[in-house]
Amino acid sequence: MGEKLVIQGGRRLEGELSVQGSKNSALPILAAAVVTGGSSIIKNCPRLTDVDAASRILEYLGCKVARTGDTLIVDSSGICRSDIPEKLMHEMRSSIVFLGAILARFGNAVVSTPGGCEIGLRPINIHLSALEALGAEITELHGRLYCSCGNGLRGAKITLSFPSVGATENIMLAAVTAKGTTTIINAAREPEIVDLACFLNGCGAKIKGSGEGIITIEGVSGLNNYEHTVIPDRIVASTYMTAAAVTGGRVTLNNIITEHLNPVLSIYEKAGCTIKTSGESLEIKAPCRLGSIGAVRTMPYPGFPTDSQAAAMVMASTAQGTSVIIENIFENRFKHVGELVRMGAKIMVENIVAVVEGVPRLHGVETEAADLRGGAALVLAGLAAEGETTVRGLHHIDRGCQSFENNLRLLGAEIKRC
Ligand code: UD1
Repeated sequence: MGEKLVIQGGRRLEGELSVQGSKNSALPILAAAVVTGGSSIIKNCPRLTDVDAASRILEYLGCKVARTGDTLIVDSSGICRSDIPEKLMHEMRSSIVFLGAILARFGNAVVSTPGGCEIGLRPINIHLSALEALGAEITELHGRLYCSCGNGLRGAKITLSFPSVGATENIMLAAVTAKGTTTIINAAREPEIVDLACFLNGCGAKIKGSGEGIITIEGVSGLNNYEHTVIPDRIVASTYMTAAAVTGGRVTLNNIITEHLNPVLSIYEKAGCTIKTSGESLEIKAPCRLGSIGAVRTMPYPGFPTDSQAAAMVMASTAQGTSVIIENIFENRFKHVGELVRMGAKIMVENIVAVVEGVPRLHGVETEAADLRGGAALVLAGLAAEGETTVRGLHHIDRGCQSFENNLRLLGAEIKRC
């Protein structure tokens, strides 16, 4: 049956935590280590199963990977393969970001199509047409993508039909050592894009405009060794903020970048929480009963993140009043709703809109995580609920939340893995 988390709800969370490094930054930076051809020291790299999956890909390609605490050292000087087997590709959807990196290093690559996943179809058409614009020839046969660029990659002007995070990263990785200049128009603006650019620029790349809608990459002939510290995980930070919010708690988070949390801060304030920020710390103090979070629309950064949508729904479920949540990014990201309704939440979903009428209390039941953020949200709901909640399907949560239950226990939650 696998492991489960067992939570006795109703404990007020209080205390202080340091937030882990960002998974969504670490993964493309690990792919970037392929392009450098040298040694990359990546600090604040979270201990997660998705990072382990990326490390296995690096090792398969011929890189040396060593971990000491939160630091990962990747030496890609001995890299010898340009393919990723299907099994490794399927361990983690975002492994598609290795495609641009391998192409940059070898001029050819063979990878599997990642396919759909729990939260949607997740096509990669934007990635592929962008790589083609840079000179790659791509053929798909039986779920494998055969990519080559006989004359090397060449800079190009690429306009994205949607500011896809993964496609923007793939283009950056492929373009850093391409001949000439690449311009990405309608690029994703997420902080993780800026972090990838910081890493690559530290290695000698010439990337300008990251964090803005237009990114310019002037190709360089090669990259050098670099030591980089991954940014804090803004999604995990907002998960712990929500844990405080739904338990009427008071929590201080350290090692955060406050600016990255701006898109989510307003829902906590709207719900009646008090937030104080100071340097790399933030304190959230919640009222006994939350107020409505109003209308929340998920959007590309700097809009409200889709990755925080499930947690926001837990707040809305226990708030006084009605809230509306509109999921604009992924078509199948309301899988937690059924489980929240079993816990007593009043949620009506129509297409991409969820209308949530807050109830005074949720009650504990046996639940199953269907995806990473939805699974973490069920744990948050369990913290707020009366009685015992169990959450199964922990492999989803372990992809992205480091020491989740230990951290919650530090804050006073009654939670154990068994
Ligand atoms: C990244 C994050 C994920 C986050 C998402 C949106 C990582 C490892 N994952 O995922 O946690 O939820 O950004 O902020 O960083 N799309 C296409 N064609 C494409 C690419 C994307 O149609 O070629 C669509 C997707 O199906 C989705 C939307 O664009 O509906 C956003 O996807 P994208 O920004 O690419 O997300 P990911 O990079 O996969």
